Amino acid sequence: MLYDNHGREMTYLRLAVTDRCNLRCFYCMPEEGIHYMPEKQLLTWEEMLRIVQQLYVLGLRKVRITGGEPLLRQGIMEFLEELSRLEGLEVCLTSNGVLLEKHIPQLKDYGIRSINLSLDSLDRKRFHQITRRDDFDVVYSAMLRLIEADFKVKINAVVMDGKNEQDILTLAQLTEQYPISVRFIEEMPFNGSGKGSAILNWDFSKIVDHLKSHFGNMQPMAVTYGETALRYQIPGFKGDVGVIAAFSRTFCGTCNRIRLTAMGEVKTCLYDDGVFDLKSFIRQGVSDEEIRQTFITLFGSRPKDGFEAEKNRKGIINESMTSIGG
Ligand code: GTP
Ligand code: 5AD
Ligand code: SF4
Repeated sequence: MLYDNHGREMTYLRLAVTDRCNLRCFYCMPEEGIHYMPEKQLLTWEEMLRIVQQLYVLGLRKVRITGGEPLLRQGIMEFLEELSRLEGLEVCLTSNGVLLEKHIPQLKDYGIRSINLSLDSLDRKRFHQITRRDDFDVVYSAMLRLIEADFKVKINAVVMDGKNEQDILTLAQLTEQYPISVRFIEEMPFNGSGKGSAILNWDFSKIVDHLKSHFGNMQPMAVTYGETALRYQIPGFKGDVGVIAAFSRTFCGTCNRIRLTAMGEVKTCLYDDGVFDLKSFIRQGVSDEEIRQTFITLFGSRPKDGFEAEKNRKGIINESMTSIGG
């Protein structure tokens, strides 16, 4: 088992398989997009599989495939099929849903049970304003198909002052009819602009108070180890609502996440700059043992929490969430 220097089990890999995206959510990227990396600067599928296999030897239990939009990269379905052969490994996907619907039966075949879907508004016009693309209908339809197909669906909605606060209640209302989790996320400064974001008006407490003022008696749910959201059940509703304090970072204490960016940088915290260039290391022809030892060493000197990691940053945040993978 891989542990960090604070005794946390490192059993969860967030693997960003591409930095490309077919939406332009303004909290993630500028309108013109970001400077995408040429394909050869990204990890290949074979390299990614090898890394996952070595972490699996070290006790990995869950891998979440992120991006960018993972379904945009050619070869993704074959990669997921390969991952499905690693017995006992939970394979999850975070997607914007635009290309999802046609892949649903195959995803099910590969044993994927949990899909996190970004959906910040149920209003077509606001969805367009936020994502700068007119894809609301396909995303909403994909969400319904996922529910029908019995996937564990979590909706991710970043709450933005003046942009979608009207959607908090309508999105939460979805959980009356559907057995899904709707999670409201504090906005983080990873928008690729190098300017950070405006001060956080909708923080954890304000979102919870807003939900309580409308839905009244919400029951807090038990938190599982490493979970980012605090979730509540509204009495009589089939699903649940949650809030992810991504900016305030109240969940660092149980962080069991290893991150690998699309360019093959290992991150020991979302807020570090990338602590190791694993892609270049692998391309020197290293052994499997050396890959495993690298993870053991990196996680042996890991910052305790995001605030600590941020103190060690070399400058202001200029990254886009699309290259980190969330
Ligand atoms: P599961 O627990 O596997 O469902 O994953 P998740 O909720 O972390 O994954 P998802 O990809 O849906 O991300 C939801 C939000 O949480 C995104 O805004 C992520 O950027 C944010 N997030 C995930 N991990 C961390 C973390 O370690 N620190 C911070 N600050 N935010 C995180
Ligand atoms: N702040 C908070 N969450 C973000 N995401 C993307 N950019 C940001 C940001 N700046 C979320 C999206 C997606 C998840 C992987 O990350 O909602 O679902
Ligand atoms: Fe694409 Fe996700 Fe970034 Fe939106 S938040 S632009 S869907 S990577």
